[in-house]
Amino acid sequence: MFDSEEVKKDFPLLSRRDVVYLDNAATTQKPKQVIEAVIDYYENHYSNVHRGIYTLSEEATDMYEKARENIARFVGLRDASSLVFVRNTTEALNLLSYSLGTRLESGDEILLTEMEHHSNIVPWQFLQSKGVRIRYAKLTESGLLDVDDLVSKINRRTKILSVSHVSNVLGSINPVKELCSYARDNGIVSIVDGAQAVPHMPVNVDEIGCDFYAFSGHKMLGPSGIGGLAGKPEALDELIPFMGGGEMIRTVTYESSTYADVPLKFEAGTPNVEGAVGLSAAVNYLRRLGMQNVKKHEMDLMQHILNLEDEMSIRNLRSYGPRDVTHRGGVYAFNIGNQPSFSVDDLSEDSTLARGAIHPHDIAAELNKRGIAVRSGHHCAMPLMGLLGLAATARASFYIYNGKSDVDLFMSALLEISRGL
Ligand SMILES: Cc1ncc(COP(=O)(O)O)c(C=O)c1O
Repeated sequence: MFDSEEVKKDFPLLSRRDVVYLDNAATTQKPKQVIEAVIDYYENHYSNVHRGIYTLSEEATDMYEKARENIARFVGLRDASSLVFVRNTTEALNLLSYSLGTRLESGDEILLTEMEHHSNIVPWQFLQSKGVRIRYAKLTESGLLDVDDLVSKINRRTKILSVSHVSNVLGSINPVKELCSYARDNGIVSIVDGAQAVPHMPVNVDEIGCDFYAFSGHKMLGPSGIGGLAGKPEALDELIPFMGGGEMIRTVTYESSTYADVPLKFEAGTPNVEGAVGLSAAVNYLRRLGMQNVKKHEMDLMQHILNLEDEMSIRNLRSYGPRDVTHRGGVYAFNIGNQPSFSVDDLSEDSTLARGAIHPHDIAAELNKRGIAVRSGHHCAMPLMGLLGLAATARASFYIYNGKSDVDLFMSALLEISRGL
């Protein structure tokens, strides 16, 4: 097991700035190993990839493709060419909506869940104009996916199942292997949004058995603007390209073009080589800690926070998501008092907000005054907020450099804030 205080020393920002950083579901801080890898690429190897036959270009290409191999291995892919570099999870899901969308017809159905992030809703809504219907599997009272409901919504018209691996609001971990096996049995294309999973737990895409798996580098210690779309080789092969241009072609005439093989078919234009190199260093860092240990560390922190919740009885504190930490990632969404989803102007004198509720933005601002950074708002999950009857929540999310002392500081600050101190 690793020591989060030792880990923290690798993160320059965390030693320079006096901050308890608890917004890791949004993005993570970067260790010096990642920063140095990017600097090394710029200072010693920088050039364009796949194009030059001079030494520098060969070095850059080699670093880019070695990064692909390393990251592919990290997410359990046997074949590195099954990993397409994209900007982030959002781009991966848009690529899939665009490419798979060309195969869908009016009346076809896409099955999502009620806990999805906007990036796994909005790209599919683009297809509604051609008559495609989107359905949502329900959640249970405790904030887990209702698998029976999901299965009951599968029918002959269901063509795509796209689910988050871990919810960015509730923290719920979904049984994606089981879900993808249902999809396979029913001839449905399966997609997993792994934005909140790959950074926090061991993920083996080949074992999950999905057709496609998306993740973002910036949420796992890597640079911004680099992420992955992993896919089964045959599933990637069958997709039409998302963007056209340099790098992705085999031949071009004035009349038509043929495309490069996967993955380059999906990597039009000059790619984010430094991003890939940095993400590869991030993967090395996480591998050294051990992803089982990362998961265990976050489970311990979450259990600690739930225990403190019980012990401290902070007035009006309400948190969301499963109480059983074995089904939950390190995400803690909460409110002090009710935050009804109707407008503040509608609140009557005796409304719950008037009775001691504190708006999540105010909680975040108060925490910020105490040097604690958390997110507040709808967390890009407005439909889920509506379902919970909320306009917004505050959210603390944890990572490898957070320890129990951070949780203690955070909970004591919440106690103070709830008392209006
Ligand atoms: C579950 C989930 N999916 C998708 C995304 C989108 O990630 P990105 O902004 O890196 O594309 C996020 C980001 O918060 C997320 O939490």
